[in-house]
Amino acid sequence: MERGSFGTKIGVVLATAGSAVGLGNIWRFPYITGEDGGAAFIVVYLVAVAVLGIPGMVAEFVVGRHGAANAPRAYSLVGGKAWSIVGYMGVLTSVIILGFYSVVAGWCVQYLFASLLGQLNGDAAYVKNYFQQFSTDPIKPLLWTIVFIILTHLVVVRGVRRGIEKVSNVLMPVLFVLLLLIVVASCMLPDAGKGVVFLFKPDFSKVTHSVMFDALGQAFFSLSLGTACLCTYASYFSRQTNLLKSAGQIAAIDTIIAILAGLMIFPAALSVGINPDSGPSLIFITLPNVFQQAFPPVLGYFVGVLFYVLLALAALTSTISQHEIGTAMFFEQMHISRRKGALIETVLAIAIGILCSLSCGAVDLEIAGMSVLSFCDFLTSNILLPLGSFFTCILVGWMAPQKLVRDEVTNWGTTSRALYKVWLLLVRYVSPVSIALVFLHQLNII
Ligand code: TRP
Repeated sequence: MERGSFGTKIGVVLATAGSAVGLGNIWRFPYITGEDGGAAFIVVYLVAVAVLGIPGMVAEFVVGRHGAANAPRAYSLVGGKAWSIVGYMGVLTSVIILGFYSVVAGWCVQYLFASLLGQLNGDAAYVKNYFQQFSTDPIKPLLWTIVFIILTHLVVVRGVRRGIEKVSNVLMPVLFVLLLLIVVASCMLPDAGKGVVFLFKPDFSKVTHSVMFDALGQAFFSLSLGTACLCTYASYFSRQTNLLKSAGQIAAIDTIIAILAGLMIFPAALSVGINPDSGPSLIFITLPNVFQQAFPPVLGYFVGVLFYVLLALAALTSTISQHEIGTAMFFEQMHISRRKGALIETVLAIAIGILCSLSCGAVDLEIAGMSVLSFCDFLTSNILLPLGSFFTCILVGWMAPQKLVRDEVTNWGTTSRALYKVWLLLVRYVSPVSIALVFLHQLNII
């Protein structure tokens, strides 16, 4: 069977960073930071990325590159048949993420058209109301969700190099430049300083156990960690790819973009008097104000439109990676064509997406007191992703043949052994123990 691969070193980093950078950075990071009190959350988040995130990414890379196969098969090749369960769990988690993520991505597309048609012009109350009306409409957001999943499908069926890698190489750099421009504009708004203080002046009395729980979940979500997504991408890496270095670079890019997104949202939110803790709608009710107030009218129009284009595209490089996990599995395990494998994944994601979209106000659909969308978000980020990463660390740190692991991490003895030792310590002890502690703490057991 012909498997795809990434063509170039920079392609590996950009495609994987394309997976990592998305709504997690620009939508989820700011709203969770807002709910959890600002700077202190960010400090905990940074520790989680460095100590658990990067080592966890490398652990998944090891499984994927060694296995050179879809997730369940790669896990069973490294640890034996029973470990394929972790791969299957990853496939399930990723299709749930794809479902709810596409709803928010669909909102971005709606905002793209609304800004193109000049429908977002008005005062802060108008913009807030616009979001409420649109997101509770039964039809429009649903259609955008489905359109978004189909768009993802179309890129994924084109394959790894011509589809995924090509799209990422162009989009990532443009996104970065535009983000910088909006940060500068946002920080020049009146009273923007309050937002900067909120982001960078930690008040550690705010670090409760749920802050740690959220930081852990956000770190995993943002790095695309814990669903075998990185494992699937690593199955397309070459033997020359330096796993430790790539993980470090991807985590750095991802974190810088998240912080920039914070610098874009909070100064603006506090400047127009919107509460930072307004939840998932935060970016949709702050940004239209920035575009109107911080730029001269024509420029504001273009920056707004361009921003939503790029946001939708950043979301697309992430949904592609979520889609690829299931597609690769159906295609290889069921011995069907790649096109058919992708179709199965698409149908499942659309079913979940419909429920999530309707639950935002059109229909009264709740699980555990949350809309289906918020529930899927919470279940995957806070529970399934940390669990996926926990088991991957146990597999790679303890169960897999140590020579296999060492060879993968040091590229067959050609890169630093000292770094490998530090990594092994983190993966064996620090990661599993910290994840377990945060879980037990959250459940009030300790
Ligand atoms: N990391 C992406 C973001 O921040 C979302 C994402 C893509 C993801 N693939 C994933 C999250 C796999 C968890 C697992 O937008």
